[in-house]
Amino acid sequence: METFSVKETCTFLLVSFVLVTETVTWPGDSVAVERFDQTNPFKLDTQQRAADRSQNTKQATDDRTQDTKQATDDQTQDTKLWTVNRTQDTKQRTTDQTQDTKQRNADRKQDTKQRTADRTQDNSSCYELCWCHGKTADCSRNYGQLTFVPKLPDGIQFLNFSYNNLTSVPSDDFFLNVTQITGMDLGNNGLNNISVGAFRPLARLQTLLMSHNKGLTYQDLRPVLRVSRLEYLDLRHNKLPPPPADLFVRYQLPRLRILYLHENFFHNINMSVFTPLPSLSYLGLANNGISFLSTDYFPHLSTLHVGQNNLESFPRTCMDNGGPSLFPNLKQILLVSNRLSRIDGEVCLPKLEYLNLQRNHFHTYYTDDFNEARFPSLQSLNLASMRTKNSGIQRYAFRSTSMQVITLLFNNINVSNIDNESFAGLPNIRTLQLSHNYFETVSVDKFAELFGNLTTLVKLYMCAGRLKVISAKMLSRFKSLNKLVLCQNRLTSLPDGVLDGLVNLQVLDMGANQISVVKETTFSQNTRDRLQRVDLSGNPFDCSCDLRWFQSWLASGPKALTHSRFKYTCSNLPDTNVTSFYLSEQACLFSRDINVLMVSCLSLLLVVMTTVFPLYRYRWHLRLMLYEAVRGGGDARRRRLQRGQFQYDVYVSYASDDLGWVRQHLLVELENWGLRLCLHDRDFLIGNNIVDDISHSVESSKKVLVVFSRHYSRNQWCQFELNFCLRHVMDFGDNLVVTCVNDVESHDLTTAMMAVLKMMSYIRWDDDPDAMAAFWGRLRQALQEIIPADVQQ
Ligand SMILES: *[C@@H]1O[C@H](CO)[C@@H](O)[C@H](O)[C@H]1NC(C)=O
Ligand SMILES: *[C@@H]1O[C@H](CO)[C@@H](O)[C@H](O)[C@H]1NC(C)=O
Ligand SMILES: *[C@@H]1O[C@H](CO)[C@@H](O)[C@H](O)[C@H]1NC(C)=O
Ligand SMILES: *[C@@H]1O[C@H](CO)[C@@H](O)[C@H](O)[C@H]1NC(C)=O
Ligand SMILES: *[C@@H]1O[C@H](CO)[C@@H](O)[C@H](O)[C@H]1NC(C)=O
Ligand SMILES: *[C@@H]1O[C@H](CO)[C@@H](O)[C@H](O)[C@H]1NC(C)=O
Ligand SMILES: *[C@@H]1O[C@H](CO)[C@@H](O)[C@H](O)[C@H]1NC(C)=O
Ligand SMILES: *[C@@H]1O[C@H](CO)[C@@H](O)[C@H](O)[C@H]1NC(C)=O
Ligand SMILES: *[C@@H]1O[C@H](CO)[C@@H](O)[C@H](O)[C@H]1NC(C)=O
Ligand SMILES: *[C@@H]1O[C@H](CO)[C@@H](O)[C@H](O)[C@H]1NC(C)=O
Ligand SMILES: *[C@@H]1O[C@H](CO)[C@@H](O)[C@H](O)[C@H]1NC(C)=O
Repeated sequence: METFSVKETCTFLLVSFVLVTETVTWPGDSVAVERFDQTNPFKLDTQQRAADRSQNTKQATDDRTQDTKQATDDQTQDTKLWTVNRTQDTKQRTTDQTQDTKQRNADRKQDTKQRTADRTQDNSSCYELCWCHGKTADCSRNYGQLTFVPKLPDGIQFLNFSYNNLTSVPSDDFFLNVTQITGMDLGNNGLNNISVGAFRPLARLQTLLMSHNKGLTYQDLRPVLRVSRLEYLDLRHNKLPPPPADLFVRYQLPRLRILYLHENFFHNINMSVFTPLPSLSYLGLANNGISFLSTDYFPHLSTLHVGQNNLESFPRTCMDNGGPSLFPNLKQILLVSNRLSRIDGEVCLPKLEYLNLQRNHFHTYYTDDFNEARFPSLQSLNLASMRTKNSGIQRYAFRSTSMQVITLLFNNINVSNIDNESFAGLPNIRTLQLSHNYFETVSVDKFAELFGNLTTLVKLYMCAGRLKVISAKMLSRFKSLNKLVLCQNRLTSLPDGVLDGLVNLQVLDMGANQISVVKETTFSQNTRDRLQRVDLSGNPFDCSCDLRWFQSWLASGPKALTHSRFKYTCSNLPDTNVTSFYLSEQACLFSRDINVLMVSCLSLLLVVMTTVFPLYRYRWHLRLMLYEAVRGGGDARRRRLQRGQFQYDVYVSYASDDLGWVRQHLLVELENWGLRLCLHDRDFLIGNNIVDDISHSVESSKKVLVVFSRHYSRNQWCQFELNFCLRHVMDFGDNLVVTCVNDVESHDLTTAMMAVLKMMSYIRWDDDPDAMAAFWGRLRQALQEIIPADVQQ
């Protein structure tokens, strides 16, 4: 952006000189000279900036909507880090539930229909209403059509009998056909009456799923609880009250490892009821409205899930007064969606590796709240999506040598206000998830102070943080960093070599920022060789010559660039993406010259600015001098014209909406004068690249005539064409002939059009016959040098 405005300024200056040439060549038009005197390039610059700003704000609002969409992505990504083993996470449940009821009725009809249709083709059918895959027989979703358990092939170990309207297991021989199975799903059946000895023939039954049966009571469950071999029992969503204190004393389940009791009605629970289960390793009590959890000694428990409850304090984990741990082997504790705001008092969880406190009410992370003394084995801490406003992180909040992953996603942390040592004392940290916090006002020094010592980081996420600047200083110390995710920020440019210090970087995501140009120098060859995944999509690319290397990098199709979330579109060209954008080598060589010119031009500008006032006093002398000086250039052009290397006389740049006027008036009159016109509607070959066509046609025309109108300003292609023509005109010491039709208002004008009008004389069309005659007269004068001699009057 910055360089662009410089370029613009330069363009104006050069155009100004062209303009002087113009006025000197046609002494009749003195208005333009006065305009030159008034021209203030800085004024134009300000206009440009104002335009930019309004666009920025619009972009920002767009971003925000995208942010929220992205958030879910990030979150799933985050949970993936640790939920590898957790088969039945309650997270999905709430959505499942609503979807379930809504879709069930529709599904049911379609299901049965579908299955009957499939039956003839599907060779996995092992009974009329069952399908067998490997060791599993799926007899589910028959909704009452299957009233018994059929004989199934040998080797079947798991029977899915869910969704079968099996409200009662009527007799003890109900399962006689499947005595070999080790697992069974009787969920979603409305089951509430089970024959006393029904499970007795199932000598190998270990896994029993009975979720969503709603009417079940502990009384009904007696036949289940008598299956002493059970290792896995799922009783989710059954409206069960808290179990009676002696339930597992009366019914011994010595092998029970996994017990799901999510989504019942416990409210308060005394965990002592589960102590008679000697093998219990996973206990799921999520979504039970629990506001008080009374704990007890669980020597083998490895995972405790008490998410989606109303807990306000961390469960008691120490025996009286800091004595030994109640949970000496607990590795994971899930407290998602409770009402905790701080972990008070002593914590005795010597083996805890994973602590999930997402969606609680932590507003401040205090010094040593998550330190090693409390959580000596903690490796992963999830503090995402707190429901209160964050008021800071204190120094050494997470001091721990075991800690590897910290997630502070969606915390609205104002990173410029947190302590410089917030993340100090984390010698083994590997992943830091800080997306959706505020980095807007964080200085480079603060950033370096906060994160500079985290040299072991492997993954760093800072999406949607309004980050504006990224520099080598901020990143240089991340020697181990493998993945850097800075999507949806407000980065506008990438400094040269910003990634060079990241010697292990393989994944880079800078999608949906405000980057318009990706320079070749940003990505050194080493960096490019290292990168395996790059996402720079969704940025407002300025498809110009500077981007051509990036285009060829994209086009050369490294696998790295194939995973992008958004599109690579050109912000300056409508409906064009970076891969399809085309500029000829020639045009780009030309633009490189402009860049070289720019530096000298800038210094020239300075000189002009400082001398323009005295010059103004001597403008008439100056005009004379310029006339003398420019005459030579005019001669050169005349020579070129005489050599006749042109295919057309006049290239007409106009909006398609003005074609009527062009055909009816301009074309007729000018062809009368013996001029060959190039009109894109007529002379461009279908199928050719339009940018190429413009470039070629302009170059093979003696003059360029621009038809300004309201339509012209609204048409993006016209604006592109105008810019192109301006460049061309500058290069060849040529001049534009500008005509205005349709009463162009100043508010219709784009910056470029305004600049042209300020600096060049223009000829205004009017439907009044006198005015028309004047128009043709002036136009003729402007085109005098190319009108063939034999037609000249
Ligand atoms: C947990 O995951 C690890 C690695 O993904 C695997 O080795 C282990 O067997 C899993 N444990 C269980 C109980 O599935
Ligand atoms: C039928 O069985 C074969 C293997 O025996 C399998 O490859 C094929 O996918 C099955 N067809 C259907 C419709 O399940
Ligand atoms: C199965 O149960 C559902 C509700 O649980 C009911 O709408 C449906 O009619 C039942 N089907 C049969 C065949 O009883
Ligand atoms: C066993 O399956 C057969 C069909 O395969 C069925 O006719 C029979 O009634 C089933 N027995 C029981 C006890 O359900
Ligand atoms: C049994 O089938 C139902 C629906 O067909 C499915 O939702 C459920 O996950 C299956 N149970 C198991 C344990 O795979
Ligand atoms: C349970 O089912 C049996 C057999 O169908 C029936 O005799 C008994 O009355 C049922 N009990 C209840 C409480 O519905
Ligand atoms: C929990 O139950 C145990 C055993 O029944 C009992 O000793 C203890 O007092 C109970 N705790 C609470 C808080 O009620
Ligand atoms: C963050 O803090 C800085 C410095 O105190 C302040 O200027 C900025 O407005 C704050 N940003 C937000 C989003 O609160
Ligand atoms: C935190 O670091 C910044 C940047 O180095 C520094 O300006 C500031 O004084 C530091 N703050 C404290 C409290 O040390
Ligand atoms: C980095 O750690 C060193 C010692 O380990 C300490 O002296 C220095 O102040 C720390 N720097 C930052 C930026 O935290
Ligand atoms: C970009 O344009 C090319 C060529 O027109 C097309 O094949 C490709 O699908 C487009 N890509 C996107 C992301 O729009």
